[in-house]
Amino acid sequence: MGYGDLEYDSNDSEYVTYTPFETENLLLRNRIVKSATAEAMATDEGFITEKLIEFYRRLAEGGAGTIITGFMFISEKGRAMRNMTGISSDEHLKGLKELVKEVKKTGKDKWGRIKFIAQLVHAGRQNYPFPDPVAPSAVLEATTNVMPRELTKEEIHQIIDDFAEAAIRAGKAGFDAVQLHAAHGYLLSQFISPYTNRRKDEFGEERAKILLDIMERIRERSRIPVLIKMNACDFIPGGLEIDEAVRIAKLLSKAGYEAIEVSGGMWESRLYTKYNVVCQNVEKSGEAYFRDYAKKIKENVDIPVILVGGIRSLEVAEKLLDSYCDLVSMARPLIRDPYLPSKWKEVKVSDCKSCNKCLKNISKGPLACYQD
Ligand SMILES: Cc1cc2nc3c(=O)[nH]c(=O)nc-3n(C[C@H](O)[C@H](O)[C@H](O)COP(=O)(O)O)c2cc1C
Repeated sequence: MGYGDLEYDSNDSEYVTYTPFETENLLLRNRIVKSATAEAMATDEGFITEKLIEFYRRLAEGGAGTIITGFMFISEKGRAMRNMTGISSDEHLKGLKELVKEVKKTGKDKWGRIKFIAQLVHAGRQNYPFPDPVAPSAVLEATTNVMPRELTKEEIHQIIDDFAEAAIRAGKAGFDAVQLHAAHGYLLSQFISPYTNRRKDEFGEERAKILLDIMERIRERSRIPVLIKMNACDFIPGGLEIDEAVRIAKLLSKAGYEAIEVSGGMWESRLYTKYNVVCQNVEKSGEAYFRDYAKKIKENVDIPVILVGGIRSLEVAEKLLDSYCDLVSMARPLIRDPYLPSKWKEVKVSDCKSCNKCLKNISKGPLACYQD
């Protein structure tokens, strides 16, 4: 059976999950996305290592049609953690090119090439333990008890440039697209949140302005597709709520964003919820814990919606696709087993127990599964 310029095995059409999917500018060979996970495998300066290449080589072999890298810093000041990958300077290009080349070579199959997407971030007020946290407004980050410094307009314009430069660099490295990280309380998430953005200027009057400006700046120089991962809800009093997230998602859809990955929560959310909102315990939350948020956004935008958070079984993925989301995204299950997509039809459900030891150990060393 043919689909655009992609071919796929008719045996696979039994499952929607394994059919190709087309966004405005990307042909994806299936509906499975590897969601971004920080790797902590780069050198101190953010350069690619063989260990990091090996991590992605296995994912590329494993069958996910789309792989999104862990967050990469777009400027030195935007670092979120140690041994994070950098895309802030042309010096990073050589290693990034090697990484992309390896993934594309490994992931290439008879249905078409794998899609490899670079996630871009500025940490803002969630840059602990680094110095000089910055934010749209000076609002205390209560989990670290750190008061960030309010960004000047000049600094905001510089950050817009830095995101655009990083996106163009990603294109030069061979990535198929970039994804802006506007979820989980990092800087772009801080801008769209009424809790962390209390500015009185144009960046506060329209809290999504920075996202529109970044897109405009990228488009002045490049056609690289730009996806976004955004919160549908911050899970803090006074934070972003679903109706406002829908309004912003509509703006992004009109502005030419390629797809929206829907997530929720920031560091401070746990002070109110008493659990990790981003990485919930699936036994308690149930599968696909952001599904109703994704559905609401999908009903209101013209671009594809990617759902992340607690997807574990093929059966649930099948039910979600097309009505709640267009693509399903997984993080912890693919840290546990990067080959899950190629086995899912047989094993049916991931054996990831949401122990979150992968997350707890990330500040101590490279990303791995530590489940007992
Ligand atoms: C170890 C670890 C690192 C993560 N790093 C990132 C990241 O760099 N960028 C991002 O957007 N989300 C990050 N996340 C969140 C995941 O992408 C995903 O949203 C979350 O784990 C829920 O999906 P899951 O239930 O499939 O794991 C990370 C999660 C884990 C467990």
